[in-house]
Amino acid sequence: MANRSGHKALITGAGQGIGRACAEVLASKGADVVLLDKNPKTLSATAKNIKAMGRQVFTRSLDLTDIQVLKAAVQEAKQEGRIDILVNNAGYDRPGTTAKISSDDFLDVLAIHLVVPFVLIQLLLPDMRIAGWGRVINVSSIYALTGAKAEVAYSTAKAGVIGLTKSVAKEAGPQGVTVNAVLPGLTRTPTIEKFMADKYKQPIVDQTPLGRMGEAEEIASVVAFLASDEASYITAAAIPISGGWGI
Ligand SMILES: NC(=O)c1ccc[n+]([C@@H]2O[C@H](COP(=O)([O-])OP(=O)(O)OC[C@H]3O[C@@H](n4cnc5c(N)ncnc54)[C@H](O)[C@@H]3O)[C@@H](O)[C@H]2O)c1
Repeated sequence: MANRSGHKALITGAGQGIGRACAEVLASKGADVVLLDKNPKTLSATAKNIKAMGRQVFTRSLDLTDIQVLKAAVQEAKQEGRIDILVNNAGYDRPGTTAKISSDDFLDVLAIHLVVPFVLIQLLLPDMRIAGWGRVINVSSIYALTGAKAEVAYSTAKAGVIGLTKSVAKEAGPQGVTVNAVLPGLTRTPTIEKFMADKYKQPIVDQTPLGRMGEAEEIASVVAFLASDEASYITAAAIPISGGWGI
């Protein structure tokens, strides 16, 4: 992949898992990074790894769904240089069927997966359009395509991410900004390792043509490709990265 020197990428949920992998791969290609996460400990570990690569790092520990705090942090980060790559990755789940999930939990899931990416796009897209170059990569999920039992909020939000992606791609394409979504399948991250029991993982692995879970780095490498000049003719795409599961 081409060198990302001279570019600056903002990654949400950069403290661990897929977000950390995205930040590290983009930095390894030469990008400076803005790292946002609510967990100061994991965030500083990611920052340390990337500073060791000689890249510039701006970190802010915050709750992304506090929109006023988020806007202030992004304004501050932008003062250190234009951000031209946005990776909307942070997310969490509130499992539940339509019968059981509360409307508050449903709204919480929409907030992190849809409202936060929308706000970040609103904040960063104008500069990308003016510059005539920009990359937005939204992390959706294979559940956006399949739906999932007892995951009504999450599946709905992740399907919305695809709608957001395609709409913004149409707005920003004429100015050289590409907007794409990646759709991970079951991917090994700290949250999956800690909270998803093997009895739920194994049936998915059994239905996965490649016969295993994905690794965070396997998602990050596609994100880094979409952020590169080699992906210059790809926009409005929703790319499954699931070992063939759910397609
Ligand atoms: N791991 C999988 O199997 C899988 C599959 C499909 C899609 N995804 C999606 O990929 C993305 C990353 O998943 P992951 O498994 O790496 O997650 P993870 O839980 O391991 O990491 C998520 C990170 O986001 C941060 N975060 C969450 N809410 C936040 C908030 N309100 N404010 C600030 N930071 C916040 C967390 O602190 C954490 O560092 C998510 O959008 C997830 O839905 C993951």
